[in-house]
Amino acid sequence: MSKVRAAITAVAGYVPDYVLSNAELERMVDTTDEWITTRTGIKERRLLKGDLLGSSDLGKEAVNALLEKRGISAEEIDLIICATATPDMLFPSTGNLIAHKVGAKNAFAFDIMAACSGFIYSVTTASKYIESGQYKKIIVVGADKMSSIVDYEDRSTCVIFGDGSGAILLEPAEDDLGIQDTIMRSDGSGWTHLHQKAGGSLRPSSHETVDQKMHYIYQEGRSVFKFAVTKMADVSAEIMERNNLTGDDIAYLVPHQANKRIIDATAQRMGVGPEKVMLNIHKYGNTTNGTIPLCLWEWENKLNKGDNIILAAFGGGFTWGSIYLKWAY
Ligand code: ACO
Repeated sequence: MSKVRAAITAVAGYVPDYVLSNAELERMVDTTDEWITTRTGIKERRLLKGDLLGSSDLGKEAVNALLEKRGISAEEIDLIICATATPDMLFPSTGNLIAHKVGAKNAFAFDIMAACSGFIYSVTTASKYIESGQYKKIIVVGADKMSSIVDYEDRSTCVIFGDGSGAILLEPAEDDLGIQDTIMRSDGSGWTHLHQKAGGSLRPSSHETVDQKMHYIYQEGRSVFKFAVTKMADVSAEIMERNNLTGDDIAYLVPHQANKRIIDATAQRMGVGPEKVMLNIHKYGNTTNGTIPLCLWEWENKLNKGDNIILAAFGGGFTWGSIYLKWAY
């Protein structure tokens, strides 16, 4: 009997309406459209405005759109895994809240936190539940309200991030399509370069931590860049090599959208031309766990059954990895 594989059978995405342009950022901090564009490739990003709206509200929209598209009810879902770096609250999990909001009464749900690699970590985890044969319909939803942890007075981080979400449905594959291979890596020594200083058990929130802005993203951009550019390219080359793939065999690279320069370096290392790289960083910035499913959502109509696709990400932790899949519809 051949191995059960997990395949993506539907994709949906959601971005909030508010557009934060480079021009508006020029009025907020000491920056220029030219700097942001050449250093990152970003032109605008979306922000979730309004009181008491969190990542679960972004995720809920993507999941509802996904269910409608696939024509199934929320009650048919076995499991929801939410990849997020900005949970609504430390507990309960944002996946739990999304399951409640969409009416997935028969699903269990949990979060995976792996910064910007959370989505591919979650897809890898979900694929194992499908491969076990026990679960048939799993939603992986990446949802991040990055604006909730961005300091809009810090020009080195506020230009990068945006809010958004994307969701995929995983089901048992037919014809040996779906997820073929995954490589996931982490190195906790990298935490010093990219983290949120306060709000966890190590340094609970206090007047002092808020005064010192320790609840915002802390990033040493240049150090993170060096790791990201090497690791994302290395792991993508590794997964191609061990599956005997060349650049010609690849239909699309779906890279995490952190910085266009990191994406270009990864594509170059893989021998994949720019026409095969999904890129929407100019519109949405870095939506953390939203980037990869938002790309799949946007490119869905161009994908063909059997296409070889590589997903790749790098994020805080450090965490990174790559997934090789054959598109199933
Ligand atoms: N506008 C103008 N100047 C700026 C801005 C800005 N928005 N931000 C920083 N600068 C200045 C700096 O102050 C510095 O000035 P100095 O030379 O006088 O000190 C200069 O520009 C260069 O700064 P760098 O930080 O070296 O700029 P760099 O080219 O590295 O770009 C960036 C910064 C975009 C953050 C880049 O380092 C990067 O993309 N890093 C990786 C990000 C990433 O992949 N993160 C992981 C995923 S995110 C996650 O997991 C949550």
